[in-house]
Amino acid sequence: MLSDGTDLQSRVQQLEKENRILKKKLARSDTTCLQLEETTRKKEALLRQVISELKESQANLEKQSYELEQTLTDLKRTQTHLVQAEKMSSLGQLVAGVAHEINNPVNFIHGNLRYVQEYAQNLLSFVQLHLTHHPNPIPDIQTATEELELDFIQADLPKMLDSMKTGTDRIRQIVLSLRNFSRMDEADFKAVDIHEGIDSTLLILQHRLKDKSESPAIQVIRNYGNLPIVECYPGQLNQAFMNILANAIDALEEANAKRTYQEIKENPSQIIIQTALVDSTWVKITISDNGTGMPESVHQHIFDPFFTTKAIGKGTGMGMPISYQIVAEKHEGKLYCFSTLGKGTEFIIQIPIRQKICQADPPIFSLVTASATSA
Ligand SMILES: Nc1ncnc2c1ncn2[C@@H]1O[C@H](COP(=O)(O)OP(=O)(O)OP(=O)(O)O)[C@@H](O)[C@H]1O
Ligand SMILES: [Mg+2]
Repeated sequence: MLSDGTDLQSRVQQLEKENRILKKKLARSDTTCLQLEETTRKKEALLRQVISELKESQANLEKQSYELEQTLTDLKRTQTHLVQAEKMSSLGQLVAGVAHEINNPVNFIHGNLRYVQEYAQNLLSFVQLHLTHHPNPIPDIQTATEELELDFIQADLPKMLDSMKTGTDRIRQIVLSLRNFSRMDEADFKAVDIHEGIDSTLLILQHRLKDKSESPAIQVIRNYGNLPIVECYPGQLNQAFMNILANAIDALEEANAKRTYQEIKENPSQIIIQTALVDSTWVKITISDNGTGMPESVHQHIFDPFFTTKAIGKGTGMGMPISYQIVAEKHEGKLYCFSTLGKGTEFIIQIPIRQKICQADPPIFSLVTASATSA
């Protein structure tokens, strides 16, 4: 009984001891828990700080990459400007130089031809008069007259002089067109007749339009509307016409390479140039060809600098971006391109009649072909 009481007491004491140990352990684990919580809080704070710093640096990176993109765009634009300026000024100077060099000698010939014509006429009349009064000259003169084939000379010389005059007239007209094209001798900004610019550009390209052994001439159909004079940079606008027309000729030549002379004759190559007044503030020039047309993959990129589908050394890929810059940036106009593969291509240029007043967008025109992209 006594031993039972002692056992119980010692058991209670043991339990109390264990209880104390447990309490101590609990107190310790509470402290550890608190410490852990504290550490977690610190780590969380650190993590949050790291995340916020990361976000900040990501934002900085995004900003820098945006700035880089901007710089790249600016650089590309500057590069295009430089190439354009170089190409235009060298072409303009070359054309103006050639025109100037031809102008003087052709004027000598043209100016003197009138007198040559008059003197020849006088001489022929004199010979005729002489023959009338001396129908039977001495044998030597008779032989010389026959050898000379005087009859033929009398008939042919005036014709020859006439055709020489036509030739010099034509050269003078070409020189005038070259000057008109380059407009080097005029102030940049002018109110001009757009049709004159198109005509002189066509004249410069005449050698590529005419009949060749492998293909008949390219038909150029001009449907000119009644346009007022337009304020523009004529030399530059002519450059845009030139680029678009040269591309049309390239596309027609490419299409013709796969056709026989007869096939082309039955379905002639055509460039149609149409001009019209859109409203009181805008004019529209449409240049279309029935050449190769373009697939969408080419169509999407035609205004990208240095994009070309032509053979190495043939195309620089700058014609379209330059034209776009001239029309859209320099003249605050619009340049649209519509193309259908296998059918042809149409370029539409819209420019304001007056450069400063006109700020409104041009009216929307109806879309004519299936595949259409505007720049
Ligand atoms: N009328 C058109 N018909 C078919 N493709 C065209 C036409 N106009 C432009 N293109 C396409 O657009 C591309 C770019 O034209 P762009 O005038 O800019 O360069 P390019 O003619 O190749 O070279 P260049 O700088 O000598 O003009 C051409 O290579 C061609 O593939
Ligand atoms: Mg071109």
